[in-house]
Amino acid sequence: MRGLKDFPIEERPRLGEQLNQLRRLLEEQIEERLKALKAEKREKALNEERADITLPGSRWERGRIHPLTLVMDEIIDVFLGMGFEIARGPDIEDDYHNFEALNMPRDHPARDMQDTFFVARDRLLRTHTSPVQIRVMERRKPPLQIIAPGAVYRHDDDATHSPMFHQVEGFMVDRRIAFTDLKGVLTHFLRQIFREDTGVRFRPSFFPFTEPSAEIDIQCLLCSGKGSTAEQAACRVCKGSGWLEILGAGMIDPEVFRFVGYDPEKVSGFAFGMGVERIAMLKFGIEDIRLFFQNDMRFSRQFPSF
Ligand code: DAH
Repeated sequence: MRGLKDFPIEERPRLGEQLNQLRRLLEEQIEERLKALKAEKREKALNEERADITLPGSRWERGRIHPLTLVMDEIIDVFLGMGFEIARGPDIEDDYHNFEALNMPRDHPARDMQDTFFVARDRLLRTHTSPVQIRVMERRKPPLQIIAPGAVYRHDDDATHSPMFHQVEGFMVDRRIAFTDLKGVLTHFLRQIFREDTGVRFRPSFFPFTEPSAEIDIQCLLCSGKGSTAEQAACRVCKGSGWLEILGAGMIDPEVFRFVGYDPEKVSGFAFGMGVERIAMLKFGIEDIRLFFQNDMRFSRQFPSF
């Protein structure tokens, strides 16, 4: 086209016409070829990237409430129903609140049972929720009716012990609180959590922070207190005794009241503590505590959801 000017003027129109025809022809063919290539590419993609719409889709796994949360909430509900209020304390405690003020002086042999994790000099992971009793009484006056749920830590690890586990502590302080109040509150609690007709037994025991102290048992949930089942001469849950230990409790020791500046001649109270994992294991028939912390959905899925 650019060379047209080199031809004689009279030939130019004819040559121009022919060149235009040639150009249209080329353009058409390029266009056609492009279309064919695109169609080919699409065909190839459709064949190779075929989606199998009969394959199952990918599901969203629904979240679950952890069984320990279920049991913890249930325990808390029963005590809220009796007028208790909730208090919390720090997981990292000092020696004074975890031991000393609970009437466990340095070198007291009762400290030995609480395999303690120390994180620094005079700083430890609380071994029980009992220090919350001290913390609440230090800053408030009776009447008090408190529960303190939370995590506790002990150097212990097997099928029934976990280095981190949960307790619910409870206590009531006022004028003339008696052992019979403790019996009433705990018996009601246990019958709400387990069965309405569950047998409850108070056994003499010892804790440095209560006097007198008791351990509380319920009748075995599997053999109903008989000690044996149709399958086994000695029931596998209670080992044949017919009873399951479930709580520690007692009347708050006068020494503890002195540590928080209460006059033990004027006030009295009871306290108790329980392990949440143990209650959940008995309720649901779980035989290994580690299942709670492995986050295996095959385990979690077996508990009621929202
Ligand atoms: N603190 C005890 C423990 O973890 C449990 C306990 C026993 C708590 C008796 C209490 C009580 O308040 O009165 O082993």
